[in-house]
Amino acid sequence: MDDSGPYQTPARMTRPALANVRFGTPQQVDVLTALEPAVRREMDAHVARRKLWFPNDLMPADADSGAERDEELARTREAARALPDVVRIALALNLLTEEGLPHFHRLIAVYFGPASPWSDWNHLWTAEEDRHGCVMRDYVRDARIFDMGAVEKMQFQYINAGFEPDWQQDPYRLLAYTSLQEKATQISHANTGRLAAGREPALQRMLAHVAGDESRHYQFYRAVFGEILRADPERALDSLLKVTLGFEMPGHKIPGFAEMSEVLGRGGVFGTRHYQGIVEELLEYWEIGSLTGLSAHAQHSQDRLMKVPSRLARMADYAEAKAQKKKFSFDVIYQRSVEL
Ligand SMILES: [Fe+2]
Ligand SMILES: [Fe+2]
Repeated sequence: MDDSGPYQTPARMTRPALANVRFGTPQQVDVLTALEPAVRREMDAHVARRKLWFPNDLMPADADSGAERDEELARTREAARALPDVVRIALALNLLTEEGLPHFHRLIAVYFGPASPWSDWNHLWTAEEDRHGCVMRDYVRDARIFDMGAVEKMQFQYINAGFEPDWQQDPYRLLAYTSLQEKATQISHANTGRLAAGREPALQRMLAHVAGDESRHYQFYRAVFGEILRADPERALDSLLKVTLGFEMPGHKIPGFAEMSEVLGRGGVFGTRHYQGIVEELLEYWEIGSLTGLSAHAQHSQDRLMKVPSRLARMADYAEAKAQKKKFSFDVIYQRSVEL
């Protein structure tokens, strides 16, 4: 794919006089402004790393496609019939989560304001994310996986409900959250693909493309939050602690989210152990344990952060010890019973 011309980030607009349109304390606004060159640098590195793809590359639907594509689609439909229901539920939840993009575009736009490398990143990121819901919907529609009307009703409710995470207008919390969340979605898509492997190669291929994007987004956000930690460790540790302790996947307002998440946890797609792994990886990447010269308050946040993985491990141990087989049923699969 030619990653140039109209797919490039548009040339930066002249910045209007909008000095204080960002959320955050005056000190945080100064930090975000000082980090603009770093955001630009990470964005350029991201564009150099990515290989742009489009939903139509993976799920072609061109007017001039012939009988060969129809046969391919028939094979996809046939193969999709053999997918286990845990894969269907993971696909439903992950598709709906991706379709929550309007919530996230708005949050990032509101937190970082217009006309800067931060808003340029939001546009680039949104353009990339927009393909995720699109290609996944193309797949589930063409493969006839769901009661599509039920999926659409859930999507409507999810968007209509709004999404206001309790970040208290703290832009550091948004960046801590996106660091954790991009990695979480990468794991969830990749594990869903792995469960489909051997049964449905078209699905695994599509999810590998999506997971690859999430991985690159994760690299961007963790690099940028790393800059925040260097510039303002006192506040950044506090924000990171709050987000890490209260982390919920972005779809938590989706009707039936809790039951679907439980299926994903039990099915090995995404659960507490995966989240523990993400927190461990990030604490190590940011070298949180070896930060020095902190105030007593920041040291307290640092200590609490370093204890989060063992706390999550205890939660996972407890849940696994008392877990018994359970039956679930969901509208998106015609109330069929799933036991895990
Ligand atoms: Fe995504
Ligand atoms: Fe992403």
